[in-house]
Amino acid sequence: MRTQTSALRSKDLLGIEPLSPEEITLILDTAEGFKEVSERPVKKVPALRGQLVINLFMEASTRTRVSFEIAEKRLSADTLSFSASGSAVEKGETLIDTAQNLMAMAPDMIVIRHKHPGAPKMLADRLPASIINAGDGAHEHPTQALLDAFTIREKLGRLQGVNVSIIGDISHSRVVRSNIHLLTKMKANVTLAGPPSLMPVQIERMGVRVVNSLNEAIEGADVIMMLRVQLERQGKLSFPSLREYYNTFGLTPERLRRAKEGVMVMHPGPMNRGVEIASDVADGPYSVILEQVTNGVAVRMAVLYLLGGAHMAE
Ligand code: CP
Repeated sequence: MRTQTSALRSKDLLGIEPLSPEEITLILDTAEGFKEVSERPVKKVPALRGQLVINLFMEASTRTRVSFEIAEKRLSADTLSFSASGSAVEKGETLIDTAQNLMAMAPDMIVIRHKHPGAPKMLADRLPASIINAGDGAHEHPTQALLDAFTIREKLGRLQGVNVSIIGDISHSRVVRSNIHLLTKMKANVTLAGPPSLMPVQIERMGVRVVNSLNEAIEGADVIMMLRVQLERQGKLSFPSLREYYNTFGLTPERLRRAKEGVMVMHPGPMNRGVEIASDVADGPYSVILEQVTNGVAVRMAVLYLLGGAHMAE
């Protein structure tokens, strides 16, 4: 049974949707403390000593996977990284059989990325380990939204009342779904823009404003979050050409001149340079894209610590 020592209500982090504003604030505050650990000469604390974390990445990843591995090592956990390639998954073993076999070796936490929405929940319902969603299909990517929020709060000092415009391939993005849940819970103002073919119908029901053009979206924005065009999730292009996409929804230096002075430009990565964002903007003075990556380690340390500590208290 979960005890009062557990600061998060669930043993798992499956998405932002089930979290309360207080839980989000707790994770961000905890991450603030952990950011300092990464700036020390000896970047390690003993918080998860003796705990085993398995990273089960069944879909490609650079940032999330490396960031979780670093976070686990900085917390002194034992870690093991597992991918479909080279495993019995290639012989047809199912996800649940794979997970149950891994569970037989007593991990305390499993971090999972999977192409199917709901795969982390399926494991969470069946396994005693804490399950952390590292991205499931087009459903959620909770630690990405948490690191985005951490970066905004660090720069602007708050989330409430901040104008965040998210631009691009809304339909295929788990990042946008988690960000909408988080930002609206924390009372930020969210505006979306993108090609109509990549904008889900009735997305306004999630508490966001939808505009038709990139110029309209960036006007008055404190934060511009560009999304990757997810070519791998589109059977065929949902717009006439990549050149036309860039001409209509690409963030160029010329377009950025219309934005507020000091606007933050964000992107979860990986970027399609010259499609959704120009290199001069991605590498320019308003970009916080690499700071997002740095902050990802502290945020993932916080999530692992809060779930791992709770697990030990059970
Ligand atoms: N932002 C993000 O999830 O990047 P990766 O796919 O490289 O993990």
